[in-house]
Amino acid sequence: MNTNGFSITKYHNTSEIYSRVDQLIGQPIRPIQRSEMENYLYAFEQKYASSKPVIEHAKKFIPGGVQHNLAFNYPFPIVFDRAEGAYLYDKDGNRHIDFLQAGGPTVLGSNYPAVKEKILELIKTTGPSTGLFHEYELKIAEFICTHMPGVDMFRMLGSGTEACMAAIRVARLATGKKNIIKIGGAYHGWSDSLVYALRIPGTAGFDAHGIPRASRKYTQEAFPNSIRSLEKRLRLNKLSGRGTAAVILEPMGTESGTRPVDFNYNREVRALCDKYGALLIFDEVVTAFRIGISGAQGYFDVKPDLTVFGKVVAGGYPAAGGLGGSRDLMEYLAAGLQAGKKRAMVGGTLAANPLSSAAGYYTLVEIEKQNACKKAGMAGDRLTEGLEKLIEQYKLPFIAYNQGSICHLETSGTMFLPVNMKRPWTIPKTLKEIKIRKHMMEEMGAAYMMEGIVTLAGSRMYTSMADTNEVIDEALEGFERVFQKM
Ligand SMILES: Cc1ncc(COP(=O)(O)O)c(C=O)c1O
Repeated sequence: MNTNGFSITKYHNTSEIYSRVDQLIGQPIRPIQRSEMENYLYAFEQKYASSKPVIEHAKKFIPGGVQHNLAFNYPFPIVFDRAEGAYLYDKDGNRHIDFLQAGGPTVLGSNYPAVKEKILELIKTTGPSTGLFHEYELKIAEFICTHMPGVDMFRMLGSGTEACMAAIRVARLATGKKNIIKIGGAYHGWSDSLVYALRIPGTAGFDAHGIPRASRKYTQEAFPNSIRSLEKRLRLNKLSGRGTAAVILEPMGTESGTRPVDFNYNREVRALCDKYGALLIFDEVVTAFRIGISGAQGYFDVKPDLTVFGKVVAGGYPAAGGLGGSRDLMEYLAAGLQAGKKRAMVGGTLAANPLSSAAGYYTLVEIEKQNACKKAGMAGDRLTEGLEKLIEQYKLPFIAYNQGSICHLETSGTMFLPVNMKRPWTIPKTLKEIKIRKHMMEEMGAAYMMEGIVTLAGSRMYTSMADTNEVIDEALEGFERVFQKM
């Protein structure tokens, strides 16, 4: 297999991960010792003293006190005001190793100078937006079409959420079918029809508060990494005469590979889609330009019909989204006001603005030039191998695994607890257990923060090209200090 330029050097043993996860959730949690956790919480108040009053004030004006779902918030959110390479600095001047990476977009590291300079130049000349064509729109589209195997044409949008909405709209228009199959537990943004079976497979409309049932009438789920479950769904749709418009999935597995897939999974899904006449949509919001410059589709050598972009596509700058695909499908998204032609309606005042287009373009150019995916992946390997050693050394039931620069550290297995909707009387007990395990994740996140490491919800880490061996080794020392307190 060609691993050249890709973030992943060695594909993980998927069944081993699942069997270790089963062991983890089959036993009681192993949290940080109470006295040690109390010490952390006490010291947290001192270390982040300047953040606390700002957050208290923010609660008056911002629901929950922070604007972002991924923002760290236990015991209270922290105000960060400087980002540079591998590091984040908070209002009190504390330095942290940044494994949140803004939720994934910054493969080059934060605030990468070569991109920043181009953006400053652009702001001085064009400003952020004009509503008219700017050459950067073409530059980024051409770059993406040249590098992504499944993309002949590209339309830039405002976010991954919008791009997922556009993808299913095009699929429905092109196939004349309505059903969309997603993988249970996956997040494809927050549109009415895709807030379905979020986080935990089998949960259907459990999280769809405020969303009419009719909006998800044609959304269905198949179980993660299960070709059998997907084929069953496709077959049922065929037998009903209604068929399937598309299967949408994250090629590395749901939640950025938290629930990983077998190496051949995507190839088998492709074959099933062809067999049942459904389109295949890859949601590469996380994986495009993180796994490689040709995305996960390049890595697995599987061509989807449509590809959803987000995050890295604007290099950490705002308005990060886009849809790409074969020419015939993308023609449904032609902009402008042509009469008499069926169009999948998409839009956005600030979609493809010069700032986002330029930021994305120069980020992609630099990622390729610097071989950044590979370098970020090597950092991810070093981090994961180090964590695995610590887990063994301290005899903990935890699991560390990675897909290159996407690293997972499961200490409580919260996301893996099965909710059985067919036996509703078991749900309250499971929810109680999820709450306990989720709290452990929050505590782990707070402890890592105290040791100078920013993670995504205490269980995921994105590495970047800025993570040198020294950075990773420093982080491992921090993780070790936490593991010593379990
Ligand atoms: C796989 C995936 N799809 C879609 C989205 C939604 O993207 P956005 O936050 O840009 O709307 C996300 C966001 O985290 C994502 O991870």
